[in-house]
Amino acid sequence: MEEKVLGKEPKEQPMEVQMQELMLHGRPFMRLMNQYQCAIMEVETKLKVLDSEFSMEYDRNPFESIKSRLKSPVSIVRKLESKGLEVSVANVEKYLYDIAGVRVICSFVEDIYRLMDLLLKQNDVRLVRKKDYIGRPKKNGYRSLHLILEVPIFQAAGIKLVKVEVQFRTIAMDFWASLDHKLRYKKHIEHSDEIVRELKECAEVIAGLDSRMQQIRNRIDNQSQEK
Ligand code: GTP
Ligand code: MG
Repeated sequence: MEEKVLGKEPKEQPMEVQMQELMLHGRPFMRLMNQYQCAIMEVETKLKVLDSEFSMEYDRNPFESIKSRLKSPVSIVRKLESKGLEVSVANVEKYLYDIAGVRVICSFVEDIYRLMDLLLKQNDVRLVRKKDYIGRPKKNGYRSLHLILEVPIFQAAGIKLVKVEVQFRTIAMDFWASLDHKLRYKKHIEHSDEIVRELKECAEVIAGLDSRMQQIRNRIDNQSQEK
């Protein structure tokens, strides 16, 4: 007999969603997810190689940390549905560009662009899409540099090109985005105009700090070159 949770009806997902999720758990889906995982490793390795060269040559690390994630099957189903697409492995591969996600947190804004250039110079990396929300911040104040890259995965059956979303931000931009995410996505309410304005102002203060920190570093670099 089914047990009832005290005071609550059991949470039910529409049957269709459950079926589709089940389908996604099949072998082809697992194979695809494994390819995305490999693509994450590929991009992480490229970044780590750049990091080791940077620290040797310039005694400096181009990024503070990297966080990677694979999109969960539930989020994949939701995203396909929100785009009005049928839930299929082929559609995941064709229409979703953020299954593999790598977030690179840098100390200084200039390091973000330097890293991007160094990555894009590599002849096995293809740029699919670039959104520069640092040069052109979003209306709400959000800042980050987003790249969709395609990297090759070498498998027994041959080479496969796999998409990875790479987000570059400074520590300060990450601070704002994390709090914005908590305030925005957890609560399913629309923010008032005043809150929207205040969050945007905070983003601008933070961008001002990033730019001052960059200027300080440039001054220090210039001083040490003069010596
Ligand atoms: P998504 O369907 O959200 O992936 O949008 P998109 O494909 O147009 O991609 P876009 O490059 O605009 O944003 C992708 C990701 O950037 C999101 O999934 C978030 O991780 C992050 N992002 C974008 N806008 C915001 C924002 O306003 N606030 C925060 N905290 N994160 C954001
Ligand atoms: Mg996304």
